[in-house]
Amino acid sequence: MYDVYAVREDFPVLKEVVYLDSTATTQTPVPAVEAMLEYFYRYAGNHGRGAHHLARETTNRYEDARETVARFLNADPSKTIFTKNTTDGINLVANSYPWEAGDHIVTTMLEHHSNLLPWLHLQKRGINVTIVSPDRKGIIDPQMIENALTDRTKLISVTHVSNVFGSVQDVSRITKIASRKGVKVLIDGAQSAGHIPVDLKALGCDFFATAGHKGLLGPQGTGVLYIKEPDLLDSASLGGGTVSDVSGLAYTLEPSPACFEAGTPNIPGVIGLARAVEYVEKIGVSEIEKHEAKLSRQTAKRLLELEHVEVYGPENRAGVVPFNVPGLHAHDVSLILDQTKKICVRSGHHCAIPIARFLEVESTVRASFALYNTEEEVDILVNAVNALKALVS
Ligand SMILES: Cc1ncc(COP(=O)(O)O)c(C=O)c1O
Repeated sequence: MYDVYAVREDFPVLKEVVYLDSTATTQTPVPAVEAMLEYFYRYAGNHGRGAHHLARETTNRYEDARETVARFLNADPSKTIFTKNTTDGINLVANSYPWEAGDHIVTTMLEHHSNLLPWLHLQKRGINVTIVSPDRKGIIDPQMIENALTDRTKLISVTHVSNVFGSVQDVSRITKIASRKGVKVLIDGAQSAGHIPVDLKALGCDFFATAGHKGLLGPQGTGVLYIKEPDLLDSASLGGGTVSDVSGLAYTLEPSPACFEAGTPNIPGVIGLARAVEYVEKIGVSEIEKHEAKLSRQTAKRLLELEHVEVYGPENRAGVVPFNVPGLHAHDVSLILDQTKKICVRSGHHCAIPIARFLEVESTVRASFALYNTEEEVDILVNAVNALKALVS
């Protein structure tokens, strides 16, 4: 039986606030914070760059962290790259893939700007981009993606869970379509890893980019990129740690993952991330998925019952519930909820301007859930939104 109250003991800030903004970033559990403190207090050194014992201990812990994260995602450690966030991982692929002018990329209108702008930027190099629309609930029909493919399509890049709607996309069907057509697939897993089960070998995608600081509960400044065929990419960011030899004008790259991790990485962050991933593993992602889906279903259902509120997204969703109170700006709703009840929700376009336009709204309020939220917090939110009726009637 999942004990959310025991879990909350590991997140001290939750004693002070109603934190419903985990889609932006999650809170980090005490054991992960302690693992980072231990690095600073006991063995801080640089990774892979020294013979002395602190450098060796740091290197071992950093590489152990890679094993932990790779195991969690069912990926090979040599194909698991640490990045600074999801955006960084997607840009790494966009900048290192061997594009040729006239190549074609299919993406969707549902994407966070981080999984849209890197592809739009490639238009400057003669790459064509097609953007597939979702339905009004934020679901992409894989058939529409198939219809958009041409004989020059090299990549489909699609979100796993929408950060605006919480809708879960049928990425397995998309990878099957793509493999039949010989097209690569990048999955933006910023809102899936740690929230719903992710098995990269089963998914069969070519690239999977996620954040350390969202469902994996790690610190900000950490991310993970899985690359199924590292030799396909020509790493565009080079420097210390990426080469085995340099002679005159020539250099020899280290194999993956080293050739993709130039310069000193976020060592304490990665060590904290691995400890946070162990924490998630111990609870179990399926438990977390059930818990978050229950809270978001309850929230959506109860907000829908309020006449002065509009709710967006599908019935079955991950832990994200967007809504509006017509007559009040989303930022004002968010500020009032914070100032009256210390409820932290996000407001704005959520870095997805095309989808806001599609919904014909400027912004939405977004309540989002993680493993540490409770039904009592749903009550507090719904009651506070109900009280806003007095301002709009
Ligand atoms: C679906 C999605 N993709 C990408 C990102 C960007 O993530 P990061 O801040 O880790 O770069 C986010 C952030 O909210 C997101 O929700």
